[in-house]
Amino acid sequence: MEAEPKAGFRALKITDRVYWVGAIDWGLRDFHGYLTKRGTTYNAFLVLAEPITLVDTVKAAHVDEMMARIASVIDPSQIKCIVSNHAEMDHTGALPQVVARLRPEMVVASTMGAKALQQHFHWHQPVRAVKDGERLSLGDTGLRFVETRMLHWPDSMFAFLEDEGVLFSNDAFGMHLASSERFVDEIEPGVIREEAATYYANILMPFSGLVTKLVERLPGLGLDVRLIAPDHGPLWRHEPLQVVQWYAQWAAQPFTRKAVVAYDTMWQSTEKMARAVADGLQGGGARAVVMPLAGSHRSNVAAELLEAGALLVGSPTMNGEVYPRMADLLTYLRGLKPRNLIGAAFGSYGWGGEAVRHLQQILEEMKVEIAAEAVRVQYVPDDEALARCRELGGRVAARLQELAAR
Ligand code: FEO
Repeated sequence: MEAEPKAGFRALKITDRVYWVGAIDWGLRDFHGYLTKRGTTYNAFLVLAEPITLVDTVKAAHVDEMMARIASVIDPSQIKCIVSNHAEMDHTGALPQVVARLRPEMVVASTMGAKALQQHFHWHQPVRAVKDGERLSLGDTGLRFVETRMLHWPDSMFAFLEDEGVLFSNDAFGMHLASSERFVDEIEPGVIREEAATYYANILMPFSGLVTKLVERLPGLGLDVRLIAPDHGPLWRHEPLQVVQWYAQWAAQPFTRKAVVAYDTMWQSTEKMARAVADGLQGGGARAVVMPLAGSHRSNVAAELLEAGALLVGSPTMNGEVYPRMADLLTYLRGLKPRNLIGAAFGSYGWGGEAVRHLQQILEEMKVEIAAEAVRVQYVPDDEALARCRELGGRVAARLQELAAR
């Protein structure tokens, strides 16, 4: 494959034998429904061993950038082995082109990954399937593979480079963050924590049970992890296991005193109710985060929910249904399967008032414990109706206090 001599893209040496050769997608703002306000990176890694190995590739549109970075270190035709840790297109979109042009001796994937690649690309390219715990010799070092099913797809795996202690963790421990810097310690800590949490909430929250198992399993694998190299965002080189501890906390989703109040409104009646609900929450000692859906993206609500104990939802009734943005949010959140939440529903209506019933039903389907009777108000809430909203907030706060104290 011809490199792009004019592009000026360079590889970055990250250890003695590993180079970052990925791509920076500054302009990405949507990753399957998740608002990626800071863009992302697709990380790929060149390992100078015997054989020379490429770990993961990039989205198809960024293949030239990756090839130019590789060509700044070696002639790309020297790559004889490609490891594909996960078949999703942000890591494999460029793979068919790279394989067709470089003709590596070996493409390696997990057992499910090998099938997924062939199905995905309607390929007849042989793929060597490696099992959980299997080792691939790379001359004076080796890669050990760890299956991480459903983190993020059934085929996902980690590859661990033995002598340098580099854990190529694919989607896990990553974040959607485009930056000039390649390491976590070069970026503002608040941004790192925010983006890592937002990524966990929107990509990995449905698989929290498996995250817990993985975090518990890691110490027993005897991997001396000195650097975690995910496929999105910066790499963890100082105290790399910090992010593993964050994952343990996020996966457990313990009850907290934080309550997310998400609402939409037609003529500001449900908005008035949301404010009164928040007032009641605060009066009861909870921390309220109020999110009007007119200006809050679904993925930001999901991120707030990650470390919350309650979800309260408010919607007007429109044509017998909940407001469209609220329906969007709840469909999205139901799929993310947040755990350990209590909640309540509220809303105003003109004549039918079905939305509040629908909201409560959906909360129940999400296994959210209903902590207070729903409040429905016809037309505009008066002082008595707003007092009921405050009472709803107060009841949720009291229940949160009870649960957080356990
Ligand atoms: Fe970054 Fe599941 O792909």
